[in-house]
Amino acid sequence: MTHQNNKQIIGLFGFGVVGEGLFHVLQHSHTTNAEVRKICILDPKKERSIPKTHFTVNADDILNDPEINLVVELISDSEEAFHIVSRALQKGKSVVSGNKKMLARHLPELIELQKETGSALLYDASACGSIPVIRNLEEYYDNDLLLSITGILNGSSNFVLSKVFNENKSYPESVKEAQRLGFAEADPTLDMGGWDSLYKVVILALHGFGTIVNPDEVFISGISNLQAGDIRFAKEKGYRLKLVAQATKINGKSFNLMVMPKMVNEDEYIYNVENEYNGVIIEGSFYEKQFMFGKGAGGHPTGSSVLSDITARMHGYRYEYKKRKYFSIPEHTNDVVVKVYLRFKNLLDFSHFEFETIDEKLSSRNYNYVIGTIKLSNLIHIRKLIQTLDVFLAFFDIPEKRSGAGSPKSEAL
Ligand SMILES: NC(=O)c1ccc[n+]([C@@H]2O[C@H](COP(=O)([O-])OP(=O)(O)OC[C@H]3O[C@@H](n4cnc5c(N)ncnc54)[C@H](OP(=O)(O)O)[C@@H]3O)[C@@H](O)[C@H]2O)c1
Repeated sequence: MTHQNNKQIIGLFGFGVVGEGLFHVLQHSHTTNAEVRKICILDPKKERSIPKTHFTVNADDILNDPEINLVVELISDSEEAFHIVSRALQKGKSVVSGNKKMLARHLPELIELQKETGSALLYDASACGSIPVIRNLEEYYDNDLLLSITGILNGSSNFVLSKVFNENKSYPESVKEAQRLGFAEADPTLDMGGWDSLYKVVILALHGFGTIVNPDEVFISGISNLQAGDIRFAKEKGYRLKLVAQATKINGKSFNLMVMPKMVNEDEYIYNVENEYNGVIIEGSFYEKQFMFGKGAGGHPTGSSVLSDITARMHGYRYEYKKRKYFSIPEHTNDVVVKVYLRFKNLLDFSHFEFETIDEKLSSRNYNYVIGTIKLSNLIHIRKLIQTLDVFLAFFDIPEKRSGAGSPKSEAL
């Protein structure tokens, strides 16, 4: 089949950071046989860098155009995105999306829709921007040998942590700088609270292990409560704090997901991942650790990843969700014990945490912490409450005690 036969006539939804980035990247790609036919946006009055004739505010101009065979969905509203993606698949169009929240919240329906309609949905840009981690997990890494996927999956919070650690800036000051440079949204909760990393690790777990995990059953804790005392503690002990998402096999039958700041040792690959960069470590039984590093966000890096999906569709590529088909799928569990640093202001806040062991304690007028082990199931239980407390949590790279039976080997990174 020639390229001409496979020409991708694109209907693009969204012309923001990524949509416009993709448009530029496409103009520089001489090998992609694709043309953007129409772009659907929200605000027709907004100034655009290309002529107004490219745009529409009517989604049907794209969805009902029989010549458009590929919908690229890059909008900011996840529920509207789900609606657009579902309709496009039902109309037999291929879809490329970068919307991790939409994907993580609707994976079962989206997999089913692809099965029913025969249409394909690709979304490599949804996790880690330009780093091709999803397709690698889908195609390369064998389920039974894959032990863990760990990484810094969010560029905005990593940028803030770099400013705080390397330039001694305060947390609020660093968030403002990230917003000014376009690395963080006006509402930083999604990035700093760990939500963005959560949605990404849910997608990675599907392609790595084959299991669909409900994001509401995963423990997340972000960096929004980071204070000077936490930074001082980490620096004095030789750690750097990084917001880490991890999917870790416990044994052949189960695995755990979590998103939490981590006290990172200098011998860990992610120790030197700074600013808006992402880094992902994939660990297997026989190859030990492999490390992928690159720009995790931004118009052009993410646009390149979208372009890669467009080209993949040109060659007929689709996710087969191989791990779900050919392997016994491990179960998601929170039955693990983690070693954490918990900084708290008052004893009432501390009383909600049921520690298994306490290894170290410090109490002073304004700064108290405890280091010890705690069941993740306890943390999940109080996940919502924790967000209202004046506490900061981080975990350590010390082999975790699995509370589940039959844990032959610790795979903690
Ligand atoms: N920014 C990144 O680095 C990055 C990286 C990876 C993935 N992503 C994902 O990519 C997607 C887009 O992100 P972004 O940063 O490009 O967002 P953005 O800069 O806020 O742009 C969003 C675009 O969506 C349009 N839009 C919003 N609601 C719409 C609707 N109902 N119908 C049609 N168009 C609509 C907006 O239209 P107007 O222009 O008219 O307002 C705007 O052009 C998100 O899902 C995001 O999570 C972003």
